[in-house]
Amino acid sequence: MARTTLTRTVLAAVSVASLFALSACASDAGGEPAGGGETAGGGADDGVITLGFSQVGAESGWRAANTKSIQDTLTTENGFDLKFSDAQQKQENQIQAIRSYITQGVDVIAFSPVVETGWDPVLQEAKAAGIPVILTDRAVDSSDETLYESFIGSDFVKEGEMAGEWVAEQYDGEGFKAVELQGTTGAAPAIDRKEGFESAIEGTDVEIIDSQTGNFTRAEGKTVMEGFLNKHDDIDLVFAHNDDMGLGAIEAIEAAGMTPGEDIKIVTIDAVKDGMQALADGKINYIVECNPLLGPDLAEIAKKVIAGEEVEKRIVVEDLAFDQESAKEALPTREY
Ligand code: AHR
Repeated sequence: MARTTLTRTVLAAVSVASLFALSACASDAGGEPAGGGETAGGGADDGVITLGFSQVGAESGWRAANTKSIQDTLTTENGFDLKFSDAQQKQENQIQAIRSYITQGVDVIAFSPVVETGWDPVLQEAKAAGIPVILTDRAVDSSDETLYESFIGSDFVKEGEMAGEWVAEQYDGEGFKAVELQGTTGAAPAIDRKEGFESAIEGTDVEIIDSQTGNFTRAEGKTVMEGFLNKHDDIDLVFAHNDDMGLGAIEAIEAAGMTPGEDIKIVTIDAVKDGMQALADGKINYIVECNPLLGPDLAEIAKKVIAGEEVEKRIVVEDLAFDQESAKEALPTREY
């Protein structure tokens, strides 16, 4: 069921002492403490939830804000011992990190999968070890939903649709030629945003004339845009799957002697500060938000899982959208 973010106050109300009772209770009920072996995490013993988090990488401003939210929330004061690793956008590094968390016997594993497929074997290993898994930000493509407890994150298809609907509303009838800067190949946001955008412009005369991955980074967004500009002299619009690639495209467009936001319109997804500033400055035309502040929801779900409470399988984070005027209003109080 779609819902907004969980109530933060609930988190504050759960004391470390009650967590001790809850986690001890969960271990008793489940027979085996999480992880089973000698090195099992501290959840059952000392009231602290040991959570191993495997992050995608540090590819974008969005990712930096997401990492900060997780590290700022899963603190000792809040009852957590956070083990954090950065996979540098490589699935093999994430699998290695998850295996290491299993060996360490953490209480909970959470991760944001770099790509959608190929997770079943390692998730089965976590399940066999009795360690619950929570997905944040990105989904896995698996037919076995028992391999994870909950998935917290935005609806990426909807984000792509929101971007496409705005483009259709603004530019249908003008024969616009668009290029697309895709996110990391095989990643859920790249697959879903593409699908959502394409479905929203279907039936209009907006045409995607080229599409390539820029791996969610500013540097690759710039390089791919340079290639597009060398190849096509009729680009009207860039749809970038995140702000960083859009910001890279701005650099390429300016270097080619054109004005971003005017000669070539730009639509992106994320709404992080640098993107919002470019939108307010008129260099981007529209941004669909992707909220990176997932730490509080992750903390709440992890506590519930350890307590043996039922959790929602899918928690959809709600996203807004901004045009140039609303970006100017939102910027002064923007959290990320
Ligand atoms: O998975 C979320 C996406 O990953 C963000 O939109 C992008 O900036 C990040 O790299």
